[in-house]
Amino acid sequence: MNVLAISGLSYGFRGPQGEVSVLHGLDLAVAPEEIVIVTGPSGSGKSTLLSLAGLLRRPPPGTVHLFGVDVGTAGEAALGALRGRMRFVFQKSYLVAGLTVLENVIASLVALPETNRRFDDIRARRMLENVGLADKVGAYPHQLSGGQQQRVAVARALVALPELLIVDEPTAALDREAARIVVDQIRLLTQTMGCGVLMTTHDDRIMDVATRRLHLADGRLSQPPGEWHAPC
Ligand SMILES: Nc1ncnc2c1ncn2[C@@H]1O[C@H](COP(=O)(O)OP(=O)(O)O)[C@@H](O)[C@H]1O
Ligand SMILES: [Mg+2]
Repeated sequence: MNVLAISGLSYGFRGPQGEVSVLHGLDLAVAPEEIVIVTGPSGSGKSTLLSLAGLLRRPPPGTVHLFGVDVGTAGEAALGALRGRMRFVFQKSYLVAGLTVLENVIASLVALPETNRRFDDIRARRMLENVGLADKVGAYPHQLSGGQQQRVAVARALVALPELLIVDEPTAALDREAARIVVDQIRLLTQTMGCGVLMTTHDDRIMDVATRRLHLADGRLSQPPGEWHAPC
């Protein structure tokens, strides 16, 4: 079953000159183990799409299903259960300033009922090792570079072993090495745990991580320009 299934999704915002339509009958499915990269011009609606797929906005009934559940009609308890199965990485890391690096990552596990508290610490440390930050566990976010903060944000998302990972321009502010670590860890999660990934990016350095690429323009997804596919 798809982790994410979107069909006929239309969405707009109310502006001073009335409703501004952003998505027009958009279709998209993400299966386990897939890394779907969405490109598209600034303002084309990429972040809006991710917010609707990621429970940050309520989509119209019947248009967005997460793990088979209709997000548009689900109640709060069902939405809470869905949130436990997915994680985000944004362009900005949004770490909690008053918590150490290790505590920020452990915080991602606290709400999960099935984790064993005794192992949270070791899981978080292992994940921070994976992103090359073993020596920063006791540091506070302001003591880290932007690239290191973003690697903590990735560790925080991946430590929860999400079934769906939603990633919005994760490497825009990163140097090449940090960008590579970020996408390599994401790829590892899909390959080992079957996570599905929906990611937007402009970053040509990381396009190779995609198992599928789509382009958002005029409110719909299509093949990216420059990748011509012969008609069958
Ligand atoms: N909260 C909002 N209120 C009104 N308009 C918005 C809001 N968020 C986004 N938009 C508009 O929706 C369009 C798509 O924005 P966005 O999804 O952020 O695009 P992208 O991520 O591709 O740059 C833009 O025209 C933007 O101005
Ligand atoms: Mg955006």
